[in-house]
Amino acid sequence: MSLTVDTAAAPAAGEAILRRQRTRESAARTYARSFPIVPVRANGMTVEGADGRRYLDCLAGAGTLALGHNHPVVLEAIRRTLDSGAPLHLLDLATAEKDDFTTTLLASLPAAVADRSRVHFCGPAGTDAVEAALKLMQTATGRRGALAFTGAYHGMTAGALAVTGNVGVKAPLPSGGEVTRLPYPHAYRCPFGVGAKGAELSATYVERLLDDPSGGVVPPAAMILEVVQGEGGVVPAPDGWLREMRRITAERGIPLIVDEVQSGVGRTGAMWAVEHSGIVPDAMVLSKAIGGSLPLAVVVYREEYDGWRPGAHAGTFRGNTLAMAAGAATLRYVAANGLAERAALLGTRIIDRLNGLKERLPVIGDVRGRGLMLGVELVDPSGEPDSCGAHPADPQLAVRVRAACLQRGLIVELGGRHDAVLRLLPPLTITDEQVEAVLDRLADAIEASA
Ligand SMILES: Cc1ncc(COP(=O)(O)O)c(C=O)c1O
Repeated sequence: MSLTVDTAAAPAAGEAILRRQRTRESAARTYARSFPIVPVRANGMTVEGADGRRYLDCLAGAGTLALGHNHPVVLEAIRRTLDSGAPLHLLDLATAEKDDFTTTLLASLPAAVADRSRVHFCGPAGTDAVEAALKLMQTATGRRGALAFTGAYHGMTAGALAVTGNVGVKAPLPSGGEVTRLPYPHAYRCPFGVGAKGAELSATYVERLLDDPSGGVVPPAAMILEVVQGEGGVVPAPDGWLREMRRITAERGIPLIVDEVQSGVGRTGAMWAVEHSGIVPDAMVLSKAIGGSLPLAVVVYREEYDGWRPGAHAGTFRGNTLAMAAGAATLRYVAANGLAERAALLGTRIIDRLNGLKERLPVIGDVRGRGLMLGVELVDPSGEPDSCGAHPADPQLAVRVRAACLQRGLIVELGGRHDAVLRLLPPLTITDEQVEAVLDRLADAIEASA
């Protein structure tokens, strides 16, 4: 039996790999079900399958690949590190690569966040950084509970799952902690049934609830939120609402954790999504793109919270040298090449085009997002509209559109309530021609499936 991997797998070999995956891997696998392809090569936004077909990748590792697949700058950083003989795995020991990564990361953050901050390197997943941030604030405040929002996604480990909103993945498990669920503003699926005005109501509700001695909320260790909810269906919070959350938490001594695992590194049209509103959180949770396509996760927090003891949040894989090198190279490239600004520009252009399409195709209920974190909610226009005029979500149509996209060489995943939101998370390096190709294929797929 050959122990080498045939990366130039022929179509038949690809079929065999898929068959073996179906029989050997877990029933909990996800993307593998949506995209039955065997990628053998990838470059930029293009992925080539074992069947020789090429796809434009609007999933990009669930938003991880800011520079797309195998960007030369990332490959060069990895090769240079490999050739240098640097140790590849080092727990949390000091290395030149980690030192450079930390310097680059802090330089990329808003000055008010980076000043007098500390960085904790976590196990290399966003969910572990969420656990660390919650634990940090529990330690600092001596309190236990957390405030979290409807539609939130923070990961799959116990604490992160407790603050996540998705009932489908939470329900079968014991609760990971005491969490007060608060309404996240969502103009299209407004929790108050009043549309965009709901953001103001949300802020009022949060403030009054926290001040109500009979409101049932024991003073919490932290509030955690996303600036743009990703898995929750691409829901950007209004800047004014975010500033209200900052004010409300600051006035009540509640640390604010902002989860930028998905929204960071230029994705929303600013290097960090907090920059749009100017809020300064007490902690930021970062992962995905900061590792330049390799696993890495950190919490950056204000130094006055740094009262936990050595080993309070440990993890074997905190010192991935290659991820530090690839991540630093990515952060530098995004900043030097104005990719956040380009994401803002392209995001506006894509939203305009999709809104044009919405006028023609009533199955498009809503188009929303910020920068290159975009969502298209598909609805059943024959269904009864709610008080905001939104028709029921159409998850079956969304599944058909996803498949039709794949047939047309476009990888687009679903998310949001009922999995009815098409999510566009292309690399920030997407070219103008690729934007046109994505929109053409998407429009064609929706039209053909509706
Ligand atoms: C906002 C946010 N937080 C946390 C996570 C969890 O990250 P990971 O899947 O690396 O554990 C995700 C993953 O999609 C996310 O989008």
